[in-house]
Amino acid sequence: MDFDAMFDAQLDALKEEGNYRIFAELERQCGQFPRARSHDDDAPDQVTVWCSNDYLGMGQHPVVRQAMKDAVDACGTGAGGTRNISGTAHHHLVLERELADLHGKQAALLFTSGYVSNWAALSTLGSRLPDAVILSDALNHASMIEGIRHSRAQKVIWRHNDPEDLDRKLSALPANAPKIVAFESVYSMDGDISPMAEIVEVAEKHGAMTYLDEVHAVGLYGPRGGGVSEDLGLADRITLIEGTLGKAYGCMGGYVTGSASLCDFIRSFASGFIFTTALPPAVAAAATASIRHLKVSQSERRQQRAQVAQLRAKLDARGIPHMDNPSHIIPVMIKDPVKCRMLADILMHDWGIYVQPINYPTVPKGTERLRFTPGPLHSDADIDHLVAALTTLWKQCALAHAVA
Ligand SMILES: Cc1ncc(COP(=O)(O)O)c(C=O)c1O
Repeated sequence: MDFDAMFDAQLDALKEEGNYRIFAELERQCGQFPRARSHDDDAPDQVTVWCSNDYLGMGQHPVVRQAMKDAVDACGTGAGGTRNISGTAHHHLVLERELADLHGKQAALLFTSGYVSNWAALSTLGSRLPDAVILSDALNHASMIEGIRHSRAQKVIWRHNDPEDLDRKLSALPANAPKIVAFESVYSMDGDISPMAEIVEVAEKHGAMTYLDEVHAVGLYGPRGGGVSEDLGLADRITLIEGTLGKAYGCMGGYVTGSASLCDFIRSFASGFIFTTALPPAVAAAATASIRHLKVSQSERRQQRAQVAQLRAKLDARGIPHMDNPSHIIPVMIKDPVKCRMLADILMHDWGIYVQPINYPTVPKGTERLRFTPGPLHSDADIDHLVAALTTLWKQCALAHAVA
């Protein structure tokens, strides 16, 4: 069997569709974010990163770096085991307490990534609760979809951000079946925010538990960075809040928070928690420092919002179409995978602007886009440079100026 030929045939098909992924080889430059060194031959040596999920630049924050360095010097590098077998460090428990406090919950449980936390928690809940039904928003992240699929529980998909559809679908289920309503706060590709109060109300009416992914909101929304649920005063009505340490907190790892019984249940039954090496203590220490900082400091969030508003206004002034949404995510719609790649290449090579083209399967075909995430460390000059580049390209490519 020529396995390589089989692999290559499928890769060739991806390339033909324009959906083959090419990674930019970058070296983040601590202290200079959002600048990064580029190792690509045909790009400038230094580029400005416009698509990072290190939304607030916490990955280079002195307090976070120092916490990680101190913990490495104190404890070494790896955790040395699974949480069960020698790998639970004091740092993990300190972080779990910090996370429980962040969301006003009794307990929290750490995972090696946000992806793993969704996958493990949903697959455990769906498989272990007898006759459970999981009601999943149509645009939920792949990690939730995979977790639900793995649980083999009955799955019902409700229309994106549509509480009325959720209500109808819940009404059609047996009253005594355990129901889990799974949704996100900020949807990362369109940047829209769910109608959380209405969803919670519907779930409560049907006695369903709520499972909320706040991955693109923690650190960014709410007076202490507790996410949209904190901002809206709804955290205590959500059964489980899930998040990441890898985006606004600038580190790595994922978590769930909820009641002590819920977290103990997942801790005790989730294979994605049990059978894997724990996060390095230094990562936990850095994440704790980052969360503590953002519980108090408003300056990063404030400056991020100012730069988001500025970029939106300048794009509007030049007639460059971008999706209207209430979040920090600015998708500029291209609607063609080949053009999307081409524009990203020109931005990188000619302008030193790095933005990854977002193509299928991350977004549906025909909705390809460039997704910009302005942060507090993008200067006004960075924004002007980006807008000048996009304006030039828009004219060159004669793309439609109609707002998508
Ligand atoms: C909505 C959502 N949930 C979960 C994840 C996974 O988080 P992590 O990157 O920490 O694995 C992502 C990743 O982008 C996401 O967009």
